[in-house]
Amino acid sequence: MSELSVRIDEAVATIKGVCDLEPQVGIILGTGLDALGARIQVAGRLKYEEIPHFPPATVHSGELLLGQLAGKNVVAMSGRFHAYEGYSLAQVTFPVRVAKALGVKALVVSNAAGGLNPQFSAGDLMLITDHINFMGDNPLIGPNDEALGPRFPDMSEPYNKALIDLAESVALEQGIKLQRGVYLACPGPSLETRAEYRFMRMLGADAVGMSTVPEVIVAVHAALDVLGFSAITDECFPDALEPADIDRIIATANRIEPILTEVVVTCIERMALD
Ligand code: HPA
Repeated sequence: MSELSVRIDEAVATIKGVCDLEPQVGIILGTGLDALGARIQVAGRLKYEEIPHFPPATVHSGELLLGQLAGKNVVAMSGRFHAYEGYSLAQVTFPVRVAKALGVKALVVSNAAGGLNPQFSAGDLMLITDHINFMGDNPLIGPNDEALGPRFPDMSEPYNKALIDLAESVALEQGIKLQRGVYLACPGPSLETRAEYRFMRMLGADAVGMSTVPEVIVAVHAALDVLGFSAITDECFPDALEPADIDRIIATANRIEPILTEVVVTCIERMALD
């Protein structure tokens, strides 16, 4: 058994000691997007510092929520770990390993992101159809535990096609404008220069942020079906760039949150899980 598997088992044992609910869906709530947590009928909650091997908190005071949402058992991370806080990507993605070991089949991820596609506006919601790992790192570097996943996981469809179709039909039905696009992850914490935004757009990215890709890589390694959303909080158009205002970015994420919540709740309700 690998060291990682031992750590996962210890975290799972602690969580099960508090709540024996078996989650089917994992949810990671992005910056300014944690209201979905309030929709969960909570059966158990643990502060991250109560869970063995969860990274020690820096700026985020996060908690793990277990309960029911839209008729499914879920485990939600309210607050995620970012590489820019100084965590290794192994630490950033450890909760995904734990969610898998608790029994989840699907992972829903959300984030706040800058819009690079000139057809996007701040306030839009984007369905993530693919990603670019621009972090200069990968959470799977190091010894591979075959019991957790393959050495060279395929990345031809990291975001599950059936879940993408489901989200698009739900948004259409609810009258919600849903953009779709490629999310590019940078380590941060500095925002990007005009030249970098221009370059990222040339690379084929529609949105940019500082998270999500590590968790999705590990979710794919663990054979989870992934559904991802970006709240477009600001416009990163190199020829019309305004200085980033973090308070405004968070306020815009909060404005998108109810729409995201409606789409996610209905998607979870209708997810076919084997
Ligand atoms: N870059 C630019 N704008 C953003 C980001 C980012 O990483 N996250 C949210 N808005």
